[in-house]
Amino acid sequence: MRVTPPDLRRMKERGERIPVLTAYDAPTARILDEAGIPVLLVGDSLAMVVLGYENTTTVTMAEMLHHTRAVVRGSQKALVVADMPFMSYTVTVERALDNAARFIQEAGAQAVKIEGGERVAHTIRRMVDGGVPVMGHLGLTPQQVLNLGGYKVQGRSVESAERIVRDAILVEEAGAFALVLECIPAPLGQLVSESLRIPTIGIGAGAGCDGQVQVVHDILGLCPGFQPKHAKVYATLAEEIGQAVGRYAEEVRTNRFPAQEQSYGMDADLVRVLRERIRSEGWSHAAP
Ligand code: KIV
Repeated sequence: MRVTPPDLRRMKERGERIPVLTAYDAPTARILDEAGIPVLLVGDSLAMVVLGYENTTTVTMAEMLHHTRAVVRGSQKALVVADMPFMSYTVTVERALDNAARFIQEAGAQAVKIEGGERVAHTIRRMVDGGVPVMGHLGLTPQQVLNLGGYKVQGRSVESAERIVRDAILVEEAGAFALVLECIPAPLGQLVSESLRIPTIGIGAGAGCDGQVQVVHDILGLCPGFQPKHAKVYATLAEEIGQAVGRYAEEVRTNRFPAQEQSYGMDADLVRVLRERIRSEGWSHAAP
């Protein structure tokens, strides 16, 4: 049985913090699931950290569905939330519902995430009424990068902070089961969390949020040139991978890999017969 949206609500009520991580493939999903991470987000950050795009606006429905399926296959217990990509839920409500349904029916996700407050509240309501659990996302909303002209902390002015609080309440009223708060001042993260019954999941929104989400590549040191302020590095895997493949390449070059343990044996008589046959039939083009 997987974690459910009501389980997350109960965690908030009990004051239990909720750790969330992104996942984009089956083996990573398996590791995170077995480590007890209750929510796996197939974030559209996939665009940058896995697919090499410049920002999240280029990732497609097909790509998000493909990776969501992999995360669902790799996990058994976690709630899998699929990020709906740029323009997949803002053109018409009907298109949003169709696309949300594809994440549930074709990819096996248990919920979707969409960015925005008032402007998407009606869409959230329709999705939830249709049976699709929705996670909201406010503060820095990366799909707005072309409008914003970059990634900046949000909610620093009174108007902007008030807008975030009011949007958060609208998202909750529309029926969302949780809300991501990205890159806002920590006191604002705390105020929003205290104002809502649904759990807030912060990323650069301070310790007052009910849970935290991080891009798994950031906390594992898999993108060493890029270190957002809100991410803490718990491992330096890019460095370890570089060292490991360097040792592998060296052992191949010096013929120390593969050794006997990595090789399959063959009966010596059979080898002799085969060698004689290759020679007598003239099968080999190499020197005799
Ligand atoms: O795409 C993503 O990974 C996200 C999280 C950072 C919240 O939206």
